[in-house]
Amino acid sequence: MGPVFREVSTMLRPLKILFATSEVRPLIKTGGLADVSSSLPAALRDLGLDCRLLVPGYPAVLAQCEDLTPISDLPVTLLGPARLLTGFMPGTRVPLYVLDAPRAFQRPGGPYQDTRGQDHADNAERFALLSQVAAQLCGPQNPINWQPDCLHCHDWQTGLAPAYLHFAGRPVPSLTTIHNLAFQGVYSPSLLTTLGLPSESFAIDGLEYYGNLSFLKAGLYYSDWITTVSPRYALEIQAEPLGMGMQGLLQQRRHQLTGILNGIDTADWNPSSDLHLTHNFTYRAMAGKRRCKAALQTELGLTPSAEAPLFGVVSRLTHQKGLDWILQIAQGILTRGGQIAILGTGEPILESGFKQLAHQHPQQVSAFIGYDEGLSHRIEAGADLFLMPSRFEPCGLNQMYSQRYGTLPIVRETGGLADSVTDGVDGFSFMGDTAHALWLTVERALAAYHDRPLWRRLQQTAMRKDSGWEKSAREYAALYAQLAARAHS
Ligand code: ADP
Ligand code: GLC
Repeated sequence: MGPVFREVSTMLRPLKILFATSEVRPLIKTGGLADVSSSLPAALRDLGLDCRLLVPGYPAVLAQCEDLTPISDLPVTLLGPARLLTGFMPGTRVPLYVLDAPRAFQRPGGPYQDTRGQDHADNAERFALLSQVAAQLCGPQNPINWQPDCLHCHDWQTGLAPAYLHFAGRPVPSLTTIHNLAFQGVYSPSLLTTLGLPSESFAIDGLEYYGNLSFLKAGLYYSDWITTVSPRYALEIQAEPLGMGMQGLLQQRRHQLTGILNGIDTADWNPSSDLHLTHNFTYRAMAGKRRCKAALQTELGLTPSAEAPLFGVVSRLTHQKGLDWILQIAQGILTRGGQIAILGTGEPILESGFKQLAHQHPQQVSAFIGYDEGLSHRIEAGADLFLMPSRFEPCGLNQMYSQRYGTLPIVRETGGLADSVTDGVDGFSFMGDTAHALWLTVERALAAYHDRPLWRRLQQTAMRKDSGWEKSAREYAALYAQLAARAHS
């Protein structure tokens, strides 16, 4: 077969992509990876690709997928017996493979931590198992009647899959997407044999990382291509400090590293049809947004006021997100007559900081410490401004949700925040590393807020932006096609 014919033939039949991920909304979610794992495969299928998901059989997954059927026992030994179940993502036609390995995944707590917030002691084995099965589904031992053209892995949890594929002779190409370089899956080298990795993999040119083994480094080293979730972050991680120890490798691989900005699920996040809201609205008819604001103030016990600028925050409460700067400037916002509505869980020091602020100013500040999807939508709809001053942010989704709901985001100019918010056009951004830099931007945003015609223009621009998945899904599709064609040549 000549190269041209080969290329055309790969393009004619739908490319088959195995999307291996440790979380997917609505089945199981700790962060934005779950949103991407549900909306990107759906967007790829809309483009005609045959994209299928592989996820662990956590209790929440088994409970929410009703029609799962066993298709194969798996010849794996890590953490006991395992089998593969198949079905569809609830309410969609996106095919799903569930790795049912009771000893690994059926336990209380979250995907990575137990009920006391401690990492599960056997996370290395659990996610090596997920990676092994992902690799197995791509190789000659594949127990099912479906052979992917490309394996798409995400973060450290599936980082070992490209390594297993490599040592199995690279039957198909693999792609690793970095959603957050801060989580690297670093474990003791004594696990190497248990995890079924050859000793030669434990090298600088391999998965060795400062004397330990790193799942993420394995993904970055052995996969055929690397993507990350925004063009800006793709540049930032090639240097200190955001390279977080991987900058050397990422720089070496810069010609196989692409930043593709995440999209958002525009059906879920649609102010004109969102069922979580008491009222709906569009950029042309904004009365519903004013009603949503009043309803939110009532729901959270804040003073009802159409004029008071209401700042929203929905976030994991971690150092990454720069929320300590919000605590430092909160007094300034309150003396300007502002209100703040926070929703999040995370580090105890931030949780107690926000709880204390709300306790001191119950009519101006509400802090809901917990996870509540409905409330996250009502905050996006009811707030006027959204605070997201992240120290780093690979992509970030909430700033794009905010724009779509006419809630102008105030962001630090980093990663995907820099790529999705243009200062003074569809939000506000700042560069510095201090609470003061944030404050100066809040002051600028407040000045704009009080200029009603200007505010209306900014809202309209933000709301009319296309943040859907189509453009980015096409970029992924082109990358898969290129990798598959290269593998066949
Ligand atoms: P990250 O993945 O770093 O947490 P993203 O902005 O990419 O950041 O995604 C976070 C996702 O989690 C968004 O969909 C956001 O709405 C959601 N989220 C975060 N915290 C909460 C919470 N406490 N309640 C409801 N949704 C939350
Ligand atoms: C990570 C990042 C976040 C990104 C999300 C989805 O959790 O912290 O910035 O939006 O992954 O890619």
